[in-house]
Amino acid sequence: MDPTSQIIVALDCDNRATADAVVERLGDECRFYKVGLELLTAAGPDVIKGLVTQGKEVFLDLKLFEIPNSVAGAVRAAGALGVSMVTVHGMGGSGIMSAAVEAARDFPHLRVLALTVVTSMTDADLADIGVSDAVDQQVLRLARLAQKAGCHGVIASPRDVATLRSTLGPDALIITPGVALPGESLAEHARPGTPHAAITAGASHVVVGRTVTRATDPAAAFRFVRSSLTP
Ligand code: C5P
Repeated sequence: MDPTSQIIVALDCDNRATADAVVERLGDECRFYKVGLELLTAAGPDVIKGLVTQGKEVFLDLKLFEIPNSVAGAVRAAGALGVSMVTVHGMGGSGIMSAAVEAARDFPHLRVLALTVVTSMTDADLADIGVSDAVDQQVLRLARLAQKAGCHGVIASPRDVATLRSTLGPDALIITPGVALPGESLAEHARPGTPHAAITAGASHVVVGRTVTRATDPAAAFRFVRSSLTP
């Protein structure tokens, strides 16, 4: 796969002007953006329409965890905006993942991805919510459940990528956030890794946020991440 299309830049900001400025500075270099709850809530769906109109692909990180009917409605709304990827929580179980997959059928370009265990969580965090399995076991359990429900792939931490690739097979999308370049602070990432390590282990895409968006020269940072993906 072309390394450029494997990098998804997270537009984690609270206003459209900042998001637009990053997109403008990255120009043709970057083709794929993640819009999360912060930007969607602050700036509304127009920010997504703007990206799609410019020919960008959008990963809409809605992290859906709702009753199946509401999940299906949100997925249809995402599909109508022209996004390429939408996320649903695997912890919500088969019902909501199947509802999301079913709703996405009307939008051939739309892929449904399941979140397994968010990358900031540890075994102790799982124990706190009554899950006695360790993180890696829970990740595998939810990934298998997601695949059975028809999801096109999973969101996974760098540490879990290799196991997930061998479990889910070659066609599954594996999107890996929680990555940073060597030497950067990874303080809040419980299971961190570099973009290169994630792709080498079998990730189809990496999500890169502040490494690019907060760089003095975002385009140079993007190119650096891209060059780090190839040997
Ligand atoms: O840390 P960074 O700025 O690269 O984060 C980019 C995206 O990766 C965020 O939007 C977040 O959803 C995701 N992320 C994650 N788990 C982390 C850190 C970031 O899923 N521990």
